Amino acid sequence: MTTPRPRVLSGVQPTGALHLGNWLGAIRNWVELQDSHDTFFCVVDLHAITVPHDPARLAEDTLTTAALYLACGIDPQRSTVFVQSQVSAHSELCWLLNCVTPLNWLERMIQFKEKALKQGADVSTGLLDYPVLMAADILLYDADLVPVGEDQKQHLELARDIAQQRINARFGSNGADGERLPLLKVPEPLILREGARVMSLTDGSSKMSKSDPNEGSRITLLDPPDLITKKIKRAKTDPVMGLEFGNPERPEADNLLSLYALLSGRSRESAASECASMGWGAFKPLLAEATVEALRPMQQSYADLRHDPATLLAVLAEGRERARMVADETLQRVRQALGFLQPSGPDA
Ligand code: AMP
Ligand code: TRP
Repeated sequence: MTTPRPRVLSGVQPTGALHLGNWLGAIRNWVELQDSHDTFFCVVDLHAITVPHDPARLAEDTLTTAALYLACGIDPQRSTVFVQSQVSAHSELCWLLNCVTPLNWLERMIQFKEKALKQGADVSTGLLDYPVLMAADILLYDADLVPVGEDQKQHLELARDIAQQRINARFGSNGADGERLPLLKVPEPLILREGARVMSLTDGSSKMSKSDPNEGSRITLLDPPDLITKKIKRAKTDPVMGLEFGNPERPEADNLLSLYALLSGRSRESAASECASMGWGAFKPLLAEATVEALRPMQQSYADLRHDPATLLAVLAEGRERARMVADETLQRVRQALGFLQPSGPDA
C-alpha cells in the first residue's frame, strides 16, 4: 500500500493585482510542491470582502487570480484549484470555530491591528474574524503544510491553536488507551527564507503590498515591460556605491539585490559578487531586464488563458467538486463531534 502524499493548502485574495511578493513569497513555492504533495489552492474571495470591496469587480478579479495561478505553473491535473466561496463548508466551519475561539486571540493579531488602523471607524466584524476563516480553509482539508509568506505566520499559529487546544482537546474522542484522538489535523507553516518578505520599491523597510496607495511601490505580475523598467528606475536607492546583502543601514540594496538573485535565477553569492562594485545606474537596467524576462512566459500564458474563459471555468468547476468532497467530509466530522442533530428525511 502506498502512503498518501502530504496535503498542502494555500490561497491568495483576489484583491488588486498580484505582485512580486505574492509570487516569490507564495505561489512560486506552490508550483514545486505539486510533484511531491497533494495540493489544494483556492482563491480566497470571502477574505476579500473583509474590507470594503467593489461588487462589480469581485467576480472578474477572482477569475484573474485563478488565471494567474495557472499561468504561474499551477497544473490543474496535479492540483485542485477552486474558489473559496463556492465551497460552502468554509463559511460553515468558520462559524463553528468562531464559537470556540477566544476574542482576545483575534484582537492581538498584528495584521488586524494594522488593517483596522487603516479602516478607521469602519472596521467590520469580518476583518477581526479573518484568521478564523483562514483556519477553516486550512483545517477543512486536513492540510499538513501551508506555504505562505512570513506575514502569515501568526495566522498559522492561530489555526494550530484552534485545532489543538479548542477542537481536538475538547471534542476529540478517547482512544482505547484513554488518549485523545485528534479530530482535526494540526498544520505546519512552510515559509521559505528566500522571497518570504519582498519589500516595497519605494521603502526598503516596509513590505511590498497590494494595499500601498503608491503603485510605484510594487511590480505586479501583469505590468508590461516598459512599466516595470520605469518603476525600477524610480525605485528608492541610497548614496552608497555597490550592492550588498544584510547591511541594516541599506534595506533597499538588500531588497533589490535579493530580487535580482531570485529573478535571474542566480545564487545569492554569485549575484552579490557580480554587483559588489556596481553603481545603481548600472544595476537598475540589469534588474529591470531580469524582471521582464522572468515574467514574460507567465504573462504570455496568462493572456492565452484569458482568451479562453471556458477552459478556466471548467478548471474551477472541477476543482470545486474535488474540494467539496474533502471539505464536506471534515465538516461532517466536526458537526458530529460537536453534537448537532443529524438531519433526516429524503435529502439528508
Ligand atoms: P496577500 O497579498 O496578503 O493576499 O498575500 C498572499 C500571499 O502572498 C501570502 O502567502 C503572503 O504571505 C504572500 N505575500 C504577500 N506580500 C508579500 C511580500 N511582500 N513578500 C513575500 N510574500 C508576500
Ligand atoms: N490570509 C492569507 C493572506 O492574506 C490568505 C489566505 C486565506 C490563506 N486563507 C488561507 C493562505 C489559507 C493560506 C491558507 O495571504
